[in-house]
Amino acid sequence: VILTQDELKKVAAFKAVEFVESGMVLGLGTGSTAKHAVDRIGELLRQGKLNNIIGIPTSKKTQEQAISLGIPLSDLDSHPTIDLAIDGADEVDPYLNLVKGRGGSLLREKMVEGACKKFVCIVDESKLVKYLGGSGLALPIEVVPFCWKFTASKLENLLRDSGCVAKLRNDGKGEPFVTDNGNYIVDLYLKKEIGDLQVAGDAILRIAGVVEHGMFLDMATTVIVAGDLGITINNK
Ligand code: A5P
Repeated sequence: VILTQDELKKVAAFKAVEFVESGMVLGLGTGSTAKHAVDRIGELLRQGKLNNIIGIPTSKKTQEQAISLGIPLSDLDSHPTIDLAIDGADEVDPYLNLVKGRGGSLLREKMVEGACKKFVCIVDESKLVKYLGGSGLALPIEVVPFCWKFTASKLENLLRDSGCVAKLRNDGKGEPFVTDNGNYIVDLYLKKEIGDLQVAGDAILRIAGVVEHGMFLDMATTVIVAGDLGITINNK
């Protein structure tokens, strides 16, 4: 049987939910893959196979989904330590570094997943890359709306050795895409590999106007990959 990409996402998501135990505080991810995991958690709660779960959503969208499923929710202020987070990614490199934020939720994802004892990332095999940026898709950067062009040109200049082109993300209706935090997203398109990711990430964050970048370096403790040949579980 050949599974569709969405079915592969579901396979990875269901596998990750096997790590969930009653009583856990859970980081709830955002995107089409994480959605399957949140659905599954809701289903297990309804069936009484899980109980005493507290969810910490990584976006308004996931918050709405979790509410509709009856998953009890809280936030990082009340629960600064999270047992386990489950979330998707746009790219995964061989060292389990990630690019996230194509859905625009990178800031809340990074705050929540940075507060987790375990972060299980779930992807279908199309997300695997040799190096971050290698899919040809964007590296998303959340920026404040104020003079975003100035910030975008600073980013291009910083990553000029990688042939960086910065574009403001739009909402598909001709307006800038606005994040849950009221910010914009500048998508960076790279022609070449970035050298040291940690150094580049730190330099990006030092640009005034940048709120957060979409590289999740050394954060995933496990990456579950679903492919045509089955499931692979990669531990850090
Ligand atoms: C949301 O901002 C993203 O970080 C998502 O987690 C990521 O884009 C993966 O989404 P899909 O599971 O829909 O591919």
